[in-house]
Amino acid sequence: MIRTIEESQITITQLMLPTNSNFSGKIHGGYILSLMDQIAFACASKHSRNYCVTASVNKVDFLNPIEVGELVTLKASINYTGRTSMVIGVRIESENIQTGEKKHCNSSYFTMVAKDENGENVPVPGIILDTKDKVRRFARSIARQEQAKHRSTAFRTSEFKMELYLESLKGQNAQIETIHY
Ligand SMILES: CC(C)(COP(=O)(O)OP(=O)(O)OC[C@H]1O[C@@H](n2cnc3c(N)ncnc32)[C@H](O)[C@@H]1OP(=O)(O)O)[C@@H](O)C(=O)NCCC(=O)NCCS
Repeated sequence: MIRTIEESQITITQLMLPTNSNFSGKIHGGYILSLMDQIAFACASKHSRNYCVTASVNKVDFLNPIEVGELVTLKASINYTGRTSMVIGVRIESENIQTGEKKHCNSSYFTMVAKDENGENVPVPGIILDTKDKVRRFARSIARQEQAKHRSTAFRTSEFKMELYLESLKGQNAQIETIHY
């Protein structure tokens, strides 16, 4: 089965309330993460017509702070479909109500996996790629998966060779003392 990307695209706009702020009047990053996960879930579930789970997130950089009283718009769109997994791109913009100034706050990519009623992974419909941007996003998701596969195993507890790194730690904001094993 195949579906268009537009069928599952979702946009939500929400007013940022003081209840979700930290002590300096900015919105908690964790609250924004929760909103992102919800919209990625909604987009993936809409595309697959199944409940989905979050397998991974790549990656979350908070580019600009979000202030209390701003409008935050989250947009979710499916970038990639595998067998049972989907990559959902989530973009966040904040808007100052009085000045209209908009800021790009975050773009992240959520890998979601569709589950059936027994909790088993289930195949998802593919997506139609009919613009250069859609092909670019699909290809970018594959490239990211390849990068993740080849991620170094050098820092696994079992493989970490401390002697190779001690020199590079000099000048860092830490003090190396007698190492206890
Ligand atoms: C993520 C999860 C679905 C993987 O399922 P699995 O049966 O262990 O693994 P599989 O190797 O069959 O992977 C299923 C799909 O997920 C993808 N996947 C698995 N782990 C992944 C990861 N860390 N990052 C990206 N994709 C991943 C696989 O590539 C595969 O995609 P495909 O079917 O499109 O080829 C499973 O580990 C799980 O349910 N985890 C808990 C998720 C959850 O509860 N999230 C909320 C946390 S509070």
